Amino acid sequence: MLPLIDPFGRTVDYLRISVTDRCDFRCVYCMSENMTFLPKSEVLSLEEIDRIATAFVRRGTRKLRLTGGEPLVRRGVVDLIARLSRHVASGDLDEITLTTNGSQLRKFASDLFAAGVRRINVSLDTLDPAKFAKITRWGRLEQVLDGIAAAKEAGLHVKINMVALKGLNDDEIDTMLAWTAANGHDLVLIETMPLGAIDEDRADRYLPLKAVRRDLETRHTLIDLIDQTGGPARYVRIVETGQRLGFITPLTHNFCEGCNRVRLTATGQLFLCLGQDDAADLRAVLRATEDNGILDAALDEAISRKPKGHDFVIDRTARAPAVARHMSVTGG
Ligand code: GTP
Ligand code: 5AD
Ligand code: SF4
Repeated sequence: MLPLIDPFGRTVDYLRISVTDRCDFRCVYCMSENMTFLPKSEVLSLEEIDRIATAFVRRGTRKLRLTGGEPLVRRGVVDLIARLSRHVASGDLDEITLTTNGSQLRKFASDLFAAGVRRINVSLDTLDPAKFAKITRWGRLEQVLDGIAAAKEAGLHVKINMVALKGLNDDEIDTMLAWTAANGHDLVLIETMPLGAIDEDRADRYLPLKAVRRDLETRHTLIDLIDQTGGPARYVRIVETGQRLGFITPLTHNFCEGCNRVRLTATGQLFLCLGQDDAADLRAVLRATEDNGILDAALDEAISRKPKGHDFVIDRTARAPAVARHMSVTGG
């Protein structure tokens, strides 16, 4: 079968699947405190997710990442992963992984490993319990740290995602570097992106990672690496500790020219770009026909609409977010 190639010549071989828009946290940069979530009837069944993911694998997708909301609050998600692992066993897929807030890892880590997951990304913006409660609103730091420990015990490689937030955690980057180095985790810093209405002004919290890097270079030696995980991060090695540090810089350095991914929402909408509104309704196709040839044609039609990139800006003149939907709809 032919690979999926967009109008700009980019091969799409990475599918991110948001299995639920629900979450047990309410991170201030991601959600407002009062969110309305989808009724369950709107959400794809696990069988439907499997059918779409499998259609992508047939067309050359090498990497699946489950996201949310919080993927581990969706019932049956580990069974879904275990079933999708057949594509890893057959050699058609390189990996199945997930991005999680870590709250449920104590319960699920060993099941995830048994289901075929080998590496996960955990969002952790601070190591200070009071700040953690302030950023996540509903989260408990202790529970997440225990979850990360459980993941490590289960044999999962853990990468920590830290959204850089001015005045909230910008004084903690060295602390986080030391903690991740001591525990054998990679660290990735992320610029806050203007997705969905939140209760504060993102401009107050936006921290350009170019400035963070310059600041780090006054204390550490950073060497650019060519390492790629298939995601948007660019990595450096910190010579003093030997650890790997990633930067995800949608605002200060656009990486769209290398984009290899599309996103499926919990309702089966396929978003062609995190920063644009255009989507294809794969649920309608699924529910209209058993014919995978028609589903296949729908993938081609969608990929033919993949836009060149996002138009994110964060400044005080931008009155509304670049896109109205929250990160939790597409899972980042
Ligand atoms: P790896 O497989 O470990 O490279 O992970 P990843 O970076 O692909 O996934 P993860 O879920 O950890 O995403 C980290 C951050 O990158 C999240 O905040 C995502 O929203 C952001 N991100 C991922 N893909 C894109 C993209 O295409 N555009 C933008 N602007 N941000 C992205
Ligand atoms: N900007 C940047 N990152 C965000 N995340 C959630 N909302 C935003 C945003 N507006 C991060 C989470 C998680 C990843 C999937 O996306 O912290 O690490
Ligand atoms: Fe939940 Fe992740 Fe959004 Fe935080 S960033 S509210 S953990 S979906």
